[in-house]
Amino acid sequence: MNNPATGILITFEGIDGSGKSTQARDIHNALSLAGLNVRLSREPGATPLGEEIRNILLSDKVPVGNLAELFLFLADRAEHVQDVLRPSRSNGEVLLVDRFIDATTAYQGYGMGHPLSLIENLHKTILQEIEPFRTFLLDIDPLAASERIRNRGEKKNRIEERGLEFFQKVRNGYLEIAKQNPHRFRVLDATLPREELNRAILNDLEPPLLTHAAGRRTGG
Ligand SMILES: Nc1ncnc2c1ncn2[C@@H]1O[C@H](COP(=O)(O)OP(=O)(O)OP(=O)(O)O)[C@@H](O)[C@H]1O
Ligand SMILES: [Mg+2]
Repeated sequence: MNNPATGILITFEGIDGSGKSTQARDIHNALSLAGLNVRLSREPGATPLGEEIRNILLSDKVPVGNLAELFLFLADRAEHVQDVLRPSRSNGEVLLVDRFIDATTAYQGYGMGHPLSLIENLHKTILQEIEPFRTFLLDIDPLAASERIRNRGEKKNRIEERGLEFFQKVRNGYLEIAKQNPHRFRVLDATLPREELNRAILNDLEPPLLTHAAGRRTGG
C-alpha cells in the first residue's frame, strides 16, 4: 500500500450523466464529516489555465480539432497535476478527483480513435510518480445517462452532443480499462440509488483510509 505520510488519490469516472459529480460530492461530505483531511477536485478546469481550457473544450466558442482536443485535455491535466495533485500528495491529503486519466483514454482513445499508446506515453510524462489508488467507474447505459442529462435541464456541452454511438464506445472503453486494471478499479452499477452507491464506495474505502489516518497520527 502507499506510504501513509503521502496522500491518497481517488478518482471518479464514467460517461456524461453517470453520476460522478454527485458521488464525488457526497463522498467528500462524508469523509469531511468523519474528520479526514480531504479535498475535492475535477478535470478539466481545476486551475486558472484549466478553467480557460474547460471553456474552450466544452463551449462552441471556437472550433477545436480532434488532435487539439486531446492536447487541451492533457494540458489541463499537466497543470492540475503540478498545481493540485503533487502538493496534495505531499500534504498527505485524501484527494477526490471528478474525472482523470481514464477519461482521456476512454473518450479521446476509445471514443475518438487516437492511439492508446500515444495517450499512455504522454500520461507517463505528465504523471510520473502520481497514481490513483482507487478508481470508481460509474457504469451506465448511454441512453439512460442521456435522459439524466436532459432532466438536469442544462444545455448539452460540445462533447455531450456526440450521440449514443460515441458514448457506447466510451462506455466499452472504460470497461476495458477497468478489466486491465482490476487492482485499482471498482465498477459500480450507476443506476443504483444514490445512497446505495455512497455506501458501496465508503465501505470499499474504509479499510485503506483507516490505515492512512492511523499512519498520519503516528507520523507515517
Ligand atoms: N444514483 C442516481 N440515481 C438517479 N439519478 C442520479 C443518480 N446520481 C446522479 N443522478 C442525477 O443524474 C444527473 C447526472 O448526475 P451528475 O451530474 O452527478 O453526473 P456526472 O457524471 O457528473 O455528469 P457530467 O459528466 O455531465 O458532469 C443529475 O441530475 C443527478 O442528480
Ligand atoms: Mg459532473
